[in-house]
Amino acid sequence: MKISTVLNDLIVQQVSNENRSSNAYLQIAAWFENQNLSGFGSYFKKQADEEIGHKNRLLDYLFKRTGSKVKLLDVPEISLTINSLIDVGNLYVQLEEQTTQDISRIIETALEEKDYMTFQEMQWFINEQVEEENTANEFLNKAKLINNDGSGIILWNNQLEDD
Ligand SMILES: [Fe+2]
Ligand SMILES: [Fe+2]
Repeated sequence: MKISTVLNDLIVQQVSNENRSSNAYLQIAAWFENQNLSGFGSYFKKQADEEIGHKNRLLDYLFKRTGSKVKLLDVPEISLTINSLIDVGNLYVQLEEQTTQDISRIIETALEEKDYMTFQEMQWFINEQVEEENTANEFLNKAKLINNDGSGIILWNNQLEDD
């Protein structure tokens, strides 16, 4: 069964979204690296890499279903305003919640169209979001606790460095 144009386009859009998330995490990583907080820096660099992994997984699926019809979109430019650890936490939660919504929309459409191949493929992504949202929320809560406490930030940074 051929994938529908609607689903194809939604997944192509998601490829671009994963790229956008990756870029957002890289910008966050850069913000930390600027302050010599390289534990946080490498943590968010790792998040950025994971999003690229998601992008590639989606592409692999699309290549199997549509082959040469895959047309890639531009990645929207992203500019973040980050002034604090809490800003980072809020952004992190926001990005992951947005991803959950985007994936849910693909799943809903796959179900409507009775495209069980896509439905099945997207199960991996929605399961992943359970972890992603949980990790982001934990990060935000910890950021709120630590707030601007310098020694708390350094301790957390060093923990991330050891991970
Ligand atoms: Fe992702
Ligand atoms: Fe993610």
